[in-house]
Amino acid sequence: MAQIIAEVSRTFNEYLLLPNRTRTDCSPATVDLRTPLVRHFGGEVSAIELHVPFTSAIMQAVGTPDLAIALARNGGLCFLHHNQPVLDQAAAVRQVKNFKAGFVTSDTNVRPDDSLSLLADVMRRTGHSTAAVTHDGTAAGRLLGLVTSRDFHPQRHDLDGPVSGRMTALADLPHAGPDVTLSEANARLWDERLDCLPVLDAEGHLLHLVFRSDYTDNKRFPNQVVDAAKRLRVGAGVNTHDYRERVPALVEAGADVLCLDSSDGYSDWQAQALTWVKKHYPEIPVGGGNVVDGEAFTFLAEAGADFVKVGVGGGSICITRDQKGIGRGQASAVLDVCAARDAFRERTGEYVPICSDGGLVHDYHVALALAMGADFVMMGRYFARFDQAAGAKLPTRDGFVKEYWGEGSNRARNWQRYGQGGQGLVFEEGVDGYVPYAGDLNEGLALTIAKLKTTMVSCGSITLPEFQSTARLTLVSDQSFQENHASVTLRDTPPTLT
Ligand code: IMP
Repeated sequence: MAQIIAEVSRTFNEYLLLPNRTRTDCSPATVDLRTPLVRHFGGEVSAIELHVPFTSAIMQAVGTPDLAIALARNGGLCFLHHNQPVLDQAAAVRQVKNFKAGFVTSDTNVRPDDSLSLLADVMRRTGHSTAAVTHDGTAAGRLLGLVTSRDFHPQRHDLDGPVSGRMTALADLPHAGPDVTLSEANARLWDERLDCLPVLDAEGHLLHLVFRSDYTDNKRFPNQVVDAAKRLRVGAGVNTHDYRERVPALVEAGADVLCLDSSDGYSDWQAQALTWVKKHYPEIPVGGGNVVDGEAFTFLAEAGADFVKVGVGGGSICITRDQKGIGRGQASAVLDVCAARDAFRERTGEYVPICSDGGLVHDYHVALALAMGADFVMMGRYFARFDQAAGAKLPTRDGFVKEYWGEGSNRARNWQRYGQGGQGLVFEEGVDGYVPYAGDLNEGLALTIAKLKTTMVSCGSITLPEFQSTARLTLVSDQSFQENHASVTLRDTPPTLT
């Protein structure tokens, strides 16, 4: 006889937080959003901590090296998706690990015999006004000089003439060797009144350019999540099919953490994959999921998962519940799994962090997920809206949108995530659509973080453990839910610029 669980399946929209007493030491400036990413003994610090509790979804439409760099610089973490060939995913990981703040790989490059008109075209395309002149016109060629948009003018110079006639040749160009640090480079930029310092290897090949503007930009990110060698951290998704090939390549490329990503993670396949990773790569943490109840959490925690991802059917692009009738409201799932995590810690002394994945529609849903016990959240729709995400930015009559499609849609066809039998999708479990464009991740995430901090302050907490242990939540009726929204006639919003 089937068992009917007593509690109703509930979503975040059905809850609100009650304010607690706010002490005088509680202010957004004193809120500390650090949170553990991987399994550790209770009372100890996790080997990898996030500085803000945000990770990006393991999806084609979301994770790119650019997004991974921006998110890690802001204190979170991106999991690069596994719905691509192993070598491509490893190359994306390597791109993030090789990122050196302030050291730019030149994207505006020409050869000395290229014409000034070609140079002007390249500058227009990249939007940059400094070009490297290398022997072969590539970013890694032997550097012969630099040329900027101030060095030539269409009316004064013959645009058919060669770049070499207007460039500053290497002999007259201050440059640095491969071991220069960012602060040394910055000192030279100021002392020698330079805008740009090329960094060369021993043979004179161009490695990087350091710009004055990028140094100040780097100062904007005091919260970066980095490894022992000060490289940005990055995660990578894996699946239960090709992990024997994928995991070695990702570890070799420098991935900091892996995550088994299945639409239903409560399976022997996942336990087998966890056992294999733990046996062959004991030093690399690996998460598991997705699950929606305490029993499934305990199964994965016992199989070795270093964190567990929660959520089935709540994603904004997800139609799993429509198609298969499985899933659970995200709030109920998080509450149940977090209770099992606490019981697991009581029993074993080990703390296995919980990730609330999907279904976070409003910024305040993040606060609810964390208050209910999640250690961090994972979001797809949210990050897909930013410049750094993979989807194309498209103009519409009402403004810009970004493409966003599910891993179970016909566009992504990520059959490794959906286990419908065989190597393909029999039916779709996700949709393909658009989300409103939201500009630069750095600005958008700062706003969400500001809201989270002020919510915590209202709840009288300055750390996430304090927030979780003191939060008081109430269920909302339909009528009180209506009260969440403004009830005045809104002033006209400014017309969209065309
Ligand atoms: P969102 O933040 O609400 O957009 O949800 C993102 C999450 O939805 C991902 O992290 C996945 O767990 C899940 N997901 C991604 N693609 C699909 C799909 O095609 N069908 C169902 N769930 C999906």
